[in-house]
Amino acid sequence: MPVITHIEDLRVLAQKRVPRMFYDYADSGSYTESTYRANESDFQKIKLRQRVAVNMENRTLRTQMIGIDTAMPVAIAPTGLTGMQHADGEILGALAAKQFGIPFTLSTMSICSIEDVAAATKSPFWFQLYMMKDRDFIERLIARAQAANVGALMLTLDLQILGQRHKDIKNGLSTPPRPTLANLLNLATKPRWCLGMLGTKRRSFGNIVGHAKGVGDLSSLSSWTAEQFDPALNWRDVEWIKKRWGGKLILKGIMDEEDARLAVDSGADALIVSNHGGRQLDGAPSSIHALPAIARSVVERIEVWMDGGIRSGQDVLKAVALGAKGTLIGRSFLYGLGAMGEAGVTRALEIIAKELEITMAFCGHTDIRTVDRRVLLPGTYPI
Ligand code: GLV
Repeated sequence: MPVITHIEDLRVLAQKRVPRMFYDYADSGSYTESTYRANESDFQKIKLRQRVAVNMENRTLRTQMIGIDTAMPVAIAPTGLTGMQHADGEILGALAAKQFGIPFTLSTMSICSIEDVAAATKSPFWFQLYMMKDRDFIERLIARAQAANVGALMLTLDLQILGQRHKDIKNGLSTPPRPTLANLLNLATKPRWCLGMLGTKRRSFGNIVGHAKGVGDLSSLSSWTAEQFDPALNWRDVEWIKKRWGGKLILKGIMDEEDARLAVDSGADALIVSNHGGRQLDGAPSSIHALPAIARSVVERIEVWMDGGIRSGQDVLKAVALGAKGTLIGRSFLYGLGAMGEAGVTRALEIIAKELEITMAFCGHTDIRTVDRRVLLPGTYPI
């Protein structure tokens, strides 16, 4: 067993243990992957200001996201097919997040259902919603989230049509995998994963199978998205969802100041600066590049969070410094999950928290809530 000291170790282990089509699904961006790569590399360009002879005792990362206490300004992002990175992946992720004291977000396109996660965790989690053409199904999905005591609804605004990810097509991505020779050969090298999957019933989209009428080829995410997701989604629909839901609403996928102002007008509680992990508009700027202008344009009127490219606590600190009250991790979470199940998610969270705490102190702060852009070296960060 390798010694795990940073997220990259978990990524390498996940790549070994997770079947290729699911590892590739997580670790890819759309088209040329330029935005996917920029999400990570733009963090590297930002430099931190070291301060010395500042009392570093009693450090705290505790803060709030939409009024909810969290152990650090990090939540688990909604990710599709999480239960294919590891058997019962969404349940394990939610349990690790609960134990650590941070929010967990379940994707509409999860393998474990809303009810599965609610029964396993017995505490509130967040639910991410994709708008579908079938409004009856959406109404029922919202009602199911309410019945499950979901704490906030996260509406994704940037995936009504799908940016192409070449590897998914080449791998014939489906859930469960089809028994082709290439798949069987690959699965034969992943005994742990196979054993886990044999021990669970959850191998297809738990929120959808048995709940949506006339679903077509659900095993293929791309054809199902094309068939069911509503490309006409607009701000009136956001208003409709807000009314039906009646609770806290988070809007995910904002990359433009004008859209940020519309998000404020919608009355949502938070917006997430996100390019969907570089999986949608290839050529969009990195999230960390887009963050400061958006944060400035809506200052004090809505909570601003960000996701995309966070692989360390240093990255979280930089995002907080540039105006994010919270951040979300997708791949850093999935790498931990694919590598070692629940223990791997816990490890990923511990790694990020420790890096964040140490880095914050080197920059002269002991309370994450006091961090602002003065921890960054002028001229090295986007404005
Ligand atoms: C969403 O489900 C995605 O594949 O990015």
